[in-house]
Amino acid sequence: MAEALALHGGTPVRATLLPYARQTIEDDDVQAVVAALRSDWLTTGPTVEAFERAAASAVEARHAVAVSSGTAALHAAVFAAGIGPGDEVITSPLTFVASANAVLYMGGTPVFADIRPDTLNVDPAEVAVRVTPKTRAILPVDFAGQPCDLDGLGETSRARGLAIIEDAAHALGASHKGRPVGAIADLTTFSFHPAKLITTGEGGMVTTNRDDLAARLRRFRNHGLETDFRERTARGAPYSPMVDLGYNYRLTDLQCALGLSQLAKLESLLKRRVRVAERYSAALDRVDAVKLPAVLPHGRPAWHIFPVLLDLERLSTDRDTVLAALRAEGVGAAVHYVPAYWHPYYAARGYRRGLCPRAEAAYERLLTLPLFPAMTGADVDDVLTALRKVLGYYAR
Ligand SMILES: Cc1ncc(COP(=O)(O)O)c(C=O)c1O
Repeated sequence: MAEALALHGGTPVRATLLPYARQTIEDDDVQAVVAALRSDWLTTGPTVEAFERAAASAVEARHAVAVSSGTAALHAAVFAAGIGPGDEVITSPLTFVASANAVLYMGGTPVFADIRPDTLNVDPAEVAVRVTPKTRAILPVDFAGQPCDLDGLGETSRARGLAIIEDAAHALGASHKGRPVGAIADLTTFSFHPAKLITTGEGGMVTTNRDDLAARLRRFRNHGLETDFRERTARGAPYSPMVDLGYNYRLTDLQCALGLSQLAKLESLLKRRVRVAERYSAALDRVDAVKLPAVLPHGRPAWHIFPVLLDLERLSTDRDTVLAALRAEGVGAAVHYVPAYWHPYYAARGYRRGLCPRAEAAYERLLTLPLFPAMTGADVDDVLTALRKVLGYYAR
């Protein structure tokens, strides 16, 4: 007889819940923030610039502009690309809503193109057929940390004169054909939320090789003012002219001190993620009811999350029950993502179910397994034990 699931009152695999993501904060990170706290600067001081220089160098981009979140980074990038009312921006439905919301913030219209069923990244062929005379930009997402098909998307962008804004919230440290993500698209956005590859608490960055876009980004994060207060003080000017409608999207020196300390460890943090991902991949290859998204040879993924697809034909239940059963076993699995246009806000604005059938089919089967650098071998074993237990129970 199958072992009783914790969901039904059986003994859980783990006594405490293993989260799907967790930040890695070490003593040197704490010391870096304390040193910043004791300095003269709390908000925009020298550490912001130092973090920007280090980030630009890490992704081999000419400019990096630090902002207060990955969402602010997307908003600033969509602004810098000149998107406004009447403009269409093609994006992926399999993403956190912030990717599409950024287009709405500027009065533009998000258009969803379906994903590739293997990688779960937006399909360049689907993007190409959704281009209209109103399309101004493509906003692909590097799902789970795997770079999107920048070659395929680049063909459409060049042929139709469209900007590429790459949402690389999941992909700091990833590369595409040997080039780092952050150096390829017109604008690339990153997030430093604690679940991401490095953290500043909340935080984000936009990278670009274009001087004009960098200047627009810098103004946008500081109320649209032409100069920041240090330049103004140096010039002895009484005020700085406001030339754009910007926001206060500044990242603080405190946060950038944490960011600098974290960025120095990016490679080792990525290696620890790869180790977990490789153990999962090797073990799950032999589990019939689970399929792994394809990882294409052209890129090095950053493994922000570890998504798997359930083979529902082999199971007598649905994804939500598997999710609940795993959580009862102490494995904090999650789901990334419900198609963005299924959210009530989008549904109320005319986006209909059925728009992107592959993304919708993937959503019904997707499950994110825990993955973070500090996971131990025993943690990975617990996840695999719980998964085998739950899938074995529901096997058809
Ligand atoms: C794909 C994607 N884009 C954008 C964001 C927004 O980033 P933040 O939470 O830093 O605002 C996230 C964060 O969850 C994300 O996963």
